[in-house]
Amino acid sequence: MNSHFNLLARFYDRVMPFARLEQMLRVLDLPHAGSLLDAGGGTGRVAQALHPHVDWVVVADVSREMLVQARQKGLTVTSTQTEHLPFPEGTFDRVLMVDALHHVVDQAKTIRELYRVLKIGGRLVIEEPDFRTFAVKLIAVAEKLALMRSHFLVPAQIVQLFPPEAKVRVESEEYTAWVIAEKC
Ligand SMILES: C[S@@+](CC[C@H](N)C(=O)[O-])C[C@H]1O[C@@H](n2cnc3c(N)ncnc32)[C@H](O)[C@@H]1O
Repeated sequence: MNSHFNLLARFYDRVMPFARLEQMLRVLDLPHAGSLLDAGGGTGRVAQALHPHVDWVVVADVSREMLVQARQKGLTVTSTQTEHLPFPEGTFDRVLMVDALHHVVDQAKTIRELYRVLKIGGRLVIEEPDFRTFAVKLIAVAEKLALMRSHFLVPAQIVQLFPPEAKVRVESEEYTAWVIAEKC
């Protein structure tokens, strides 16, 4: 899996330009004077767009080549699996994961970690292709054929991975779903 993203890294931003800033600011409740973790943040294409709207941004990813691109954008990066984040509990005001949950090995552990590093009163947003749609089911087949180890969940399954005390809701538009959690 890593090797797929290491190979794609130099072209990724051209193939996947980020075009949803307004939507992202809304679901993340930004601007905010605080910190944001972009977990599985890859080349930092999303973090770069969000950077002017928070005080401090960190991109965490397991692919070294994706992080090279993020570092070239002047972003702070950390090389890590999202299943084991190297941050103390309650470090970040906002935690984001875009288009990466279906790529991680252990989704339950990843959600536990993202929630752990979120501050009380903070917000965590998971953006995923909406697996309830036919188009995304086709993408899942294509990723299988490309030997990517993707494992898509429908939004309700993602919600189930949060601890019971989390306040979680789902929004969706066309082929994208956002699972939005607040830590109480
Ligand atoms: C489709 S890319 C999305 C990148 C970025 N979030 C974006 O939207 O531009 C998925 C990213 O997840 C990363 N990834 C996959 N499994 C991971 C894991 N267990 N821990 C950290 N990053 C992981 C990949 O290296 C890749 O950069």
